[in-house]
Amino acid sequence: MTPAGPLMQNARVTANEAVCREHLRLTLAVPCFPDVRPGQFVHVCPAHASTSAEATAPPAGVAEPNFMLRRAFSIAGLRRIDAGTLLEILYRVVGRGTRWLASLRPGNEISVLGPAGNTFPLVAGKGRAWLAAGGVGLPPLLWLAETLRAAGKNVVAFCGARSADLLPLGVNPEGTPAADAREARLCVRELAAHGVPAVISTDDGSLGYRGQVGEALATYAAGDATPATDLVVYACGPEPMLRAVARHCERRGVECYVCMERAMACGIGTCQSCVVPVGDPADPEGWRYALCCTEGPVFAAGDVLWDDPQRQQRTPPTCCGT
Ligand SMILES: Cc1cc2nc3c(=O)[nH]c(=O)nc-3n(C[C@H](O)[C@H](O)[C@H](O)COP(=O)(O)OP(=O)(O)OC[C@H]3O[C@@H](n4cnc5c(N)ncnc54)[C@H](O)[C@@H]3O)c2cc1C
Ligand code: FES
Repeated sequence: MTPAGPLMQNARVTANEAVCREHLRLTLAVPCFPDVRPGQFVHVCPAHASTSAEATAPPAGVAEPNFMLRRAFSIAGLRRIDAGTLLEILYRVVGRGTRWLASLRPGNEISVLGPAGNTFPLVAGKGRAWLAAGGVGLPPLLWLAETLRAAGKNVVAFCGARSADLLPLGVNPEGTPAADAREARLCVRELAAHGVPAVISTDDGSLGYRGQVGEALATYAAGDATPATDLVVYACGPEPMLRAVARHCERRGVECYVCMERAMACGIGTCQSCVVPVGDPADPEGWRYALCCTEGPVFAAGDVLWDDPQRQQRTPPTCCGT
């Protein structure tokens, strides 16, 4: 099924709360929102800056948004209510746009363009799914975990962060994360609610397994008897982690999908700023650039060329005043 095209509308902030040292959870109410599935994202900017006719000062207490382009955020959860739809975004404060997001208060309005992009495929005939989330790659996989469980799949999640205070998750007091990556436990509140056990990894060993999420997944896999034919791996996070998970899956013959991140100026396929090199047998050179915003952000891991064939020669598209 082709996902519905994006709508541009104003959304009202209903909550914007810190979940760990650098992450906040933003809940937005929109009057109507098309059919949407995990993997898709919204592109946001200040409501008063979205059209020149509305160009006014920001509401009191909201940071002056000194940027021009929308910012992309995966939909981390969605709830239909009588008055419309509640969208959840989980974000890490890294720069101008996310500092502006962090300054929003309930009642403020922002402009939302979405849903944009494609979705994680639910693969028929495979009973098991492993989710690998590194850092800010967690949001789309939280919603995917819920969707996979509703479809009757057996799911295990691998959630990694640099340290425990950067993990945007509630640690379930009844299930302390194991230091051994071969042991998945109901230790993450948001995942345990759907019956999904998790392996937590931190680079500094401050919680769970000491090491990176790709290593945790490989360690778990070494002690697991799931046949490759019954398993799908879904991953989202920094590109080196995606590459490591993709390589692991390729070696084991496991189907794998990765959610890629690119700077996105337009989010709707017009500016060509968000390219991902992919293999394409129909192309005379055997590969081409795909647009992450419309053909992605989810790609079959085996299609992505992790070493861009033209990286040495190519000058990437640039945008000023981002
Ligand atoms: C499809 C898609 C989905 C995304 N989903 C999410 C999401 O669910 N939650 C979320 O927090 N982010 C998500 N992102 C990333 C998010 O769009 C960027 O973090 C955001 O645009 C940064 O905007 P900014 O103005 O705050 O930072 P900028 O001012 O644009 O950048 C400030 C500095 O932070 C660096 N930076 C930018 N992004 C990141 C990052 N992700 N991690 C570390 N450093 C970064 C930049 O290189 C720069 O040095 C997603 C991106 C895409 C393309
Ligand atoms: S962000 Fe403009 S084409 Fe993808």
